[in-house]
Amino acid sequence: MKNIVVLTGAGMSAESGIKTFRDAGGLWEGHDVMEVASPEGWYKNKELVLDFYNQRRKQLFQVKPNKAHKLLTQLEENYHIEIITQNVDDLHERAGSKNVLHLHGELLKVRSTTNENFVYKWTKDLNLGDKCETGSQLRPHIVWFGEAVPMLELAIEITKKADILVIIGTSMQVYPAASLIHYIKNETPVYFIDPKPSISDSSFENITIYAEKASIGVENLIRALN
Ligand SMILES: NC(=O)c1ccc[n+]([C@@H]2O[C@H](COP(=O)([O-])OP(=O)(O)OC[C@H]3O[C@@H](n4cnc5c(N)ncnc54)[C@H](O)[C@@H]3O)[C@@H](O)[C@H]2O)c1
Repeated sequence: MKNIVVLTGAGMSAESGIKTFRDAGGLWEGHDVMEVASPEGWYKNKELVLDFYNQRRKQLFQVKPNKAHKLLTQLEENYHIEIITQNVDDLHERAGSKNVLHLHGELLKVRSTTNENFVYKWTKDLNLGDKCETGSQLRPHIVWFGEAVPMLELAIEITKKADILVIIGTSMQVYPAASLIHYIKNETPVYFIDPKPSISDSSFENITIYAEKASIGVENLIRALN
């Protein structure tokens, strides 16, 4: 089976009703990203940060995987699919995708502020005073701006093995995630699905751009691969 690596961003979940990151003038659900997604924001106002992710976690229980998430699972019949997502939601998993790597963490997990290896599943609100097994405050298991991306090496190894790379719903502005595209072999076909594609077809040797929302773009992709 050929390996398809699928790199997804916030646009993948837009049709499920989750807002993308830069929907409204650089704000994420009304917040300056540095306030809610950086270590500095955390030290400045932990309650605000906890409340922000508590809202995001609650929202997750009100949304469902969309058509594009489901269509991607169909490809598993004929291809080995590895999804590398920048999303912190669990919609790929809920749609039934088998191999999902979360580059930027997961809303349904929390971790110790002193030992990043103490990671716990979490479905309720996270509050000040919630502690890890050695007594340190817990924080969202999210990779914030300025923090290392622990899954990056693994993501690079997966991307290098791609026979086909598919990119869906990402502005390619957030690094190092956006740099993954440079690890494919020269001849590897790239399919880029985004209503406002951030790269042009002159950027890569073998690229197909579908300037469509994810559900339509993935339909086009499946037709092209069959
Ligand atoms: N669902 C989530 O988990 C979620 C949501 C918002 C932000 N984030 C975080 O914010 C960061 C944002 O970077 P990013 O590049 O993923 O997002 P981004 O907001 O920078 O870019 C979103 C992209 O999605 C496209 N888009 C909008 N509607 C679409 C649709 N219906 N179908 C396909 N594409 C659509 C936009 O044109 C844009 O290029 C990520 O690191 C992520 O962790 C995650």
